Amino acid sequence: MNEPRSTPKHFAPPGARAVGASIPHESATAHVTGAALYTDDLATRLPGVLHAWPVMAPHAHAWLERLDVAPAYHVSGVVKVLTAADVPGENDTGANRRDEPLFPRPATSDGDARPEILFHGMPVAWVLAESEEAAKLGAARVIAEYTPRAAILTIEQAIDAGAFHTDEERIVRGEVDAALAASKIVIDGELYVGGQEQFYLETQASIAYVDESGTMMVHSSTQHPTETQDVVARVLGVPAGDVVVQQLRMGGGFGGKETQANPFASVAAIGAVVTKRPVRVRLDRARDVVLTGKRHPFLGRYRVGCDADGTLRALRLALWSDGGWSLDLSFPVLGRALFHSDNAYYVPAMAVTGRVCKTHKASNTAFRGFGGPQGMVMIEEVLDRVARAVGLPADVVREKNLYREGHETHYGQRVEDADRLARIWGELKSDAQWDSRRREIDAFNASSQSVKRGLAITPVKFGISFTAKWYNQAGALVHVYKDGSVQINHGGTEMGQGLHTKMLQVAADALGLPIACIRIMPTRTDKVPNTSATAASSGSDLNGAAVKNACDVLRARVCEVAASMLGCTSDAVTIEGGVVRGDGRELPWAEVIDRAYHERVQLSATGFYKTPEIHWDREKGRGRPFYYFAYGAAITEVEVDAFTGMYAIRRVDILHDVGDSLSPMIDVGQVEGGFAQGAGWLTQEELVWDDKGALRTPNASTYKLPSLGECPPVFRTKLLERARQEGVVGGSKAVGEPPLMLAISVREALRDAVAACAATGRRGAVALASPATAEQVFWAIQTLREEGRATMPEPIVGVRS
Ligand code: MTE
Ligand code: HPA
Repeated sequence: MNEPRSTPKHFAPPGARAVGASIPHESATAHVTGAALYTDDLATRLPGVLHAWPVMAPHAHAWLERLDVAPAYHVSGVVKVLTAADVPGENDTGANRRDEPLFPRPATSDGDARPEILFHGMPVAWVLAESEEAAKLGAARVIAEYTPRAAILTIEQAIDAGAFHTDEERIVRGEVDAALAASKIVIDGELYVGGQEQFYLETQASIAYVDESGTMMVHSSTQHPTETQDVVARVLGVPAGDVVVQQLRMGGGFGGKETQANPFASVAAIGAVVTKRPVRVRLDRARDVVLTGKRHPFLGRYRVGCDADGTLRALRLALWSDGGWSLDLSFPVLGRALFHSDNAYYVPAMAVTGRVCKTHKASNTAFRGFGGPQGMVMIEEVLDRVARAVGLPADVVREKNLYREGHETHYGQRVEDADRLARIWGELKSDAQWDSRRREIDAFNASSQSVKRGLAITPVKFGISFTAKWYNQAGALVHVYKDGSVQINHGGTEMGQGLHTKMLQVAADALGLPIACIRIMPTRTDKVPNTSATAASSGSDLNGAAVKNACDVLRARVCEVAASMLGCTSDAVTIEGGVVRGDGRELPWAEVIDRAYHERVQLSATGFYKTPEIHWDREKGRGRPFYYFAYGAAITEVEVDAFTGMYAIRRVDILHDVGDSLSPMIDVGQVEGGFAQGAGWLTQEELVWDDKGALRTPNASTYKLPSLGECPPVFRTKLLERARQEGVVGGSKAVGEPPLMLAISVREALRDAVAACAATGRRGAVALASPATAEQVFWAIQTLREEGRATMPEPIVGVRS
């Protein structure tokens, strides 16, 4: 059981390809035995490490009138209190705009010299001490005085106040007004979708120290080591080359560590420079949830036009996202929402606009799907409204509007493989016995008054590539040592998604070695520079191609040497399972490598990859931002208690397209995990702020995460067969984010069950809040009662406050 980290058990038969084999995660054993180390575990190995604790402002918007840190030094063990005065370089960690003061500073816009507090909890100082306890006590002693100011806490307030981070962004196809005017049916609507906390198990953590050469060494739980390196260099006022960032593994990131590890790494780095000691920053859960951004809440207002049979004709959709106090990644998140507000449907005339609102909340950021889910929920809402307006089953209206071969998206990208959508739809419906179950559920609902069941199918089409073109590149560095053993380095980070496992599989096949001969090294900016965030689900596409590129170079060199040893041409040499063959003879890999070394053949190679063919013209709102689309569909069945709103998911069937899977067991895990996380967002996870802008749900006790209890008793996940994706490593497709949006089927199944409470049957809008908590499901049914549409009596209690 004590396998080292890089040697996952290979269940495939000997000699079989590693790519495509169902193997466990390379750290699976270490994860469950506790042997796996995370950033903060490294602190225990550093003598003299100082512990950091923030002093947090108790206002969402205020002037900082006075800051007196002297009392903190009366606490035994306090070594240093960091404030803006200690920043050697720039007091700003903004990744995309210089609007993120690490310590409060005066606003540039209003000329007032007082530092400005921009969200509830904003750190005004960080206390460094010999122990975490001493740092906490020291932080409690710091005196900070504030003058509170009016705060903007909602999207609506921001719209009213004209508080935005960005101008309006738009994508338009066709004459939308004319198409709306010509439509048989026109419907207006509005939907607010709530945010979501990433709730990675490992909270934000960083350790920094200066080594004997003066290099700033940072260990950070970051999805983007290069950006962390850049930001640390900026706050220290040194070149990026003076900083090395290492990332061993994360206990989850989910987008929440794409930019937001940077401030904590910066605090650790400044502390290490100022005190000349190692500094550890590790947030507890409540501070992590309060200080860091979440999935963006969105407000959508739409007008849709359709035919009497539910065929979409035109859609005008306006989106507003809550960006929080700084811009962070809100602009590309909004962009992805605009790109995905078609989901899998062809809308002949479509205008979608969006704007990022500026509020006094934590700065919202990347979260699995990156705005895509919010855009897709909007159009699924629209589809349901259309179906109920024309009196047809929602699945019929959805199917009718699916993209077909030859269609283009509203931004002009051809939907290649659009027939996969219809194929997935048909295969899933038949495999999950949609027709018979639909009849059974209708019969059940007809005979059951207080318990209703719902069934829904929804599709996913998710664009794969970073919409910022330059991010679509990756590097790798592969070493073969004299004894034949191999180390691979790549620029991606491991956060539980199985990227390293897939990279081992790719390298094993590319070199012709068993996985056990290959070791994957921690991600480091001094091994592979200028990397992109591990995000946008692109980790294995990009890094896999770079690793393969480096391995192909090495293999070609080794084949040359082997050819001279075997007396054949290098084309005739094969390498499989560590055995080198040619001209009917065979040699062990290690022997060929030994010869290569003595012949002075370079046994180390870099690899590089950039995604071809993608382009985007922002002015015109036209282009091919995505290399390809990932597809899928899910069917969910739920049961709702119409008196209380309590519900359970009874069954889920998923058919998802991952191309030719690099690692099926890992991919099924990603599909199921993504679905569960999406279901959490749409049904249970409710962020609640008070009227002062303080988050009231910063812990698992108040923020309801999906757990085993909510896992559907029947959960059937299948990967689409015969789905090879040309031009991507191993013929695979990205899998990290797309399955999250399969969970929209849960929301729609709940709506189907709520609608079953109405005497009007299929006709008539059924409003459902997001997240559709049990309480909200109750109110949705109660609304039917108030409108006189419900078939069942009033519950005994149920007074809207
Ligand atoms: N799976 C686990 N276990 N933990 C994570 O943090 N992040 C998700 C997804 N799956 C995540 C995960 C997100 S947000 C993305 S973008 C992808 O993994 C990133 O990894 P990939 O590009 O290698 O798929
Ligand atoms: N997901 C999708 N697109 C992105 C991301 C992400 O996390 N980051 C930048 N573009």
